[in-house]
Amino acid sequence: MIKIDHEKCNSCGICGHVCPRHITEVVERNNEKVTVISTDRIDLCMGCGHCAAVCPDGAIQVEGLDSKEFKPVGELEITENQLLTMMEQRRSIRRYKNKPVPRELLNRIIDAAHRAPTGTSSRSTGIIVIDNPEILKNLSDLIYKLYESLEKALGNPIARFIVKKRAGKKKLGTLERFVMPGMRWYIRWYRENRSNEILRDCPVLMLFHSPVAEPMGETNCAISAFHGIFMAEILKMGTCFNDLIPPACNRVPEIRKLLDLPEDREVYSSLTIGYPKYKFKQVIPRKLAEVRYL
Ligand SMILES: Cc1cc2nc3c(=O)[nH]c(=O)nc-3n(C[C@H](O)[C@H](O)[C@H](O)COP(=O)(O)O)c2cc1C
Repeated sequence: MIKIDHEKCNSCGICGHVCPRHITEVVERNNEKVTVISTDRIDLCMGCGHCAAVCPDGAIQVEGLDSKEFKPVGELEITENQLLTMMEQRRSIRRYKNKPVPRELLNRIIDAAHRAPTGTSSRSTGIIVIDNPEILKNLSDLIYKLYESLEKALGNPIARFIVKKRAGKKKLGTLERFVMPGMRWYIRWYRENRSNEILRDCPVLMLFHSPVAEPMGETNCAISAFHGIFMAEILKMGTCFNDLIPPACNRVPEIRKLLDLPEDREVYSSLTIGYPKYKFKQVIPRKLAEVRYL
């Protein structure tokens, strides 16, 4: 998986020092320092490419990473003030202009999503982009159908018991106390053709999916989505993270089919994306619940 070009390598040892598993190491052979690959640990390689990226001599090749595609690391032009201002001004956008988003801009959002750190270093996160209004409408109808049937089920003690068994006590509590009270209105407004409070008439929906077996799949999807959110912000687009859409994508067979979602995968994050209809004028104060140094 890793190859060292000993003609180029100066045995500085940085590659092994940055490697989480110390897969490369510098040893003494015939009174000379030489970088070797640990035969005990090579199977632990996650293919993260840190060794190749940090090597000052370009002496390391990692399988699957083409060094011709490497780019030199440059000085960052973005300042901490610019970054914080962007984060302060970002708000979840729930009303969009009826204006399509060019795919080249969507691809920039995807470029950012690719850059997210990933647990287990697996590159297993997938993205489905839906920018076809007809598909968005079909998807929307199917999602509302699911929530309508869930509303009915929660009103019936036996069906509620089955939902509790499947979802668990915590999720059922979230559904009953947080999701469904608003959802009852959403369903009514959708049926009355007043508004779509789930997909929010977004021109684009981005779904982040991962293998069910991926231990960090949910977190990977969320972090990728948040990388995308910040790129969208720079591109003057608005986004809203949406937790109502993924469960429907996973549970409704017609939606799985519509998305062509492989059986071993689930959608864990979703973003509605588009040009904001309204501009926020003020940055409001915001604090986490607690920050402590120990
Ligand atoms: C994990 C997560 C799930 C969310 N789910 C929804 C959602 O289903 N619908 C929605 O309108 N907003 C959703 N949001 C957006 C939050 O409501 C929003 O981030 C929060 O109110 C703070 O507002 P801001 O994003 O404008 O700063 C979600 C955000 C996160 C991080």
